[in-house]
Amino acid sequence: MFEDFEPAQPDAILGLVEAFKNDANPAKINLSVGVFKDAEGNTPILPSVKAAEQQILRDEVSKAYLPMTGLPEFGSCVQQLLFGSGHDLVEGGRAVTAQTPGGTGALRVAGDFVRTMAPGAKIWLSDPTWPNHPGIFQAAGLAVETYPYFDAATNSLAADSMLTALGRIPAGDVVVLHGCCHNPTGVDPSVEQWQQIAEVVRQRRLLPLIDFAYQGFAEGLESDAGGVRVVVEAVPEALLCSSFSKNFGLYNERVGALTLIGRDRSQTELALGHLKLRIRTNYSNPPVHGATIVTTILQDPAQRTVWEDEVRQMRSRINGMRELFVKTLRDKGVSRDFSFISRQRGMFSFSGLTPDQVESLRKEYAIYIVSSGRVNVAGMTEANMDPLCEAIAAVVGAG
Ligand code: LMR
Repeated sequence: MFEDFEPAQPDAILGLVEAFKNDANPAKINLSVGVFKDAEGNTPILPSVKAAEQQILRDEVSKAYLPMTGLPEFGSCVQQLLFGSGHDLVEGGRAVTAQTPGGTGALRVAGDFVRTMAPGAKIWLSDPTWPNHPGIFQAAGLAVETYPYFDAATNSLAADSMLTALGRIPAGDVVVLHGCCHNPTGVDPSVEQWQQIAEVVRQRRLLPLIDFAYQGFAEGLESDAGGVRVVVEAVPEALLCSSFSKNFGLYNERVGALTLIGRDRSQTELALGHLKLRIRTNYSNPPVHGATIVTTILQDPAQRTVWEDEVRQMRSRINGMRELFVKTLRDKGVSRDFSFISRQRGMFSFSGLTPDQVESLRKEYAIYIVSSGRVNVAGMTEANMDPLCEAIAAVVGAG
């Protein structure tokens, strides 16, 4: 069977990680995949995570399967992060959470759920979006469409065209929104714009599916949940996909969650039954370790305070690099105005570099950037900033 295969396209992001590993250039710089690095260029295990792991190793007594929806206490912690404490949705039994293998696992289960329960529904993605979004939903058998999101001329949200496009989506379709730190643009709606989006979604009777992978990386854990909270207040049903890869640095533990919101307790229970079937035929039940780490930290006030401070430090390092990036580009003689980069939020900078410029950076300077021009700011350090900006200056010229 395998003989007749055409070569597969490398993944737009993880393919670059593989290429970077194979690059022998000692000066290579990886600004592709969204992984946090510290000032020395390492991806550390957070001290709060290390402490929790020691506690878990000491206390765990069994490796029996988890329920299909994972650890119940984890689900409560996720809901607390999403909605705050004591929210009506939780008290009223309108929210259920399934622990999933990463945010990607949550998105795929959500896609399978929609495809099975509403086979005719299409899924609408922002243009641009995370390159894995279309693939995940197509693999689930859904038809993928796009709505405008980004205005390249002003480096800001194309709010009017976005709202107009959302207003034309047929009732019953699914609209994917990014909870914060839009990937790849780093451009988020304001609170007022979230209210307008929520209103269109409600009026059009669309199902919002919010991908929330960067909570804590824009302004703070609470404030970053603002958009999610505005939307869930407005609509009867929603699907929320959380990832703890970035804010707990638990990339390789695959910790995520799918939270389903229904109209009332009984409808939510009904939907949960179908969600479980999708989980069972996908990976059966989730792995325990990473979710136990998150739960251990979030349930203990002292450990939680340590973690909140770690998130603050990661955010502040990225923002520091953002400012230094803009300044160093200017210092290296780039006259194009890159100041919009300091207004973008989250791990990424949507640099405006063209695919040709991205390719020159990789071929001539061993600098790895996603072809959309998305740069992982968290991969920048004081040590690599000068060579990076000199290379960019060379490929963009004076312009
Ligand atoms: C990214 O966008 O770089 C991250 O979400 C990691 C990934 O899996 O692509």
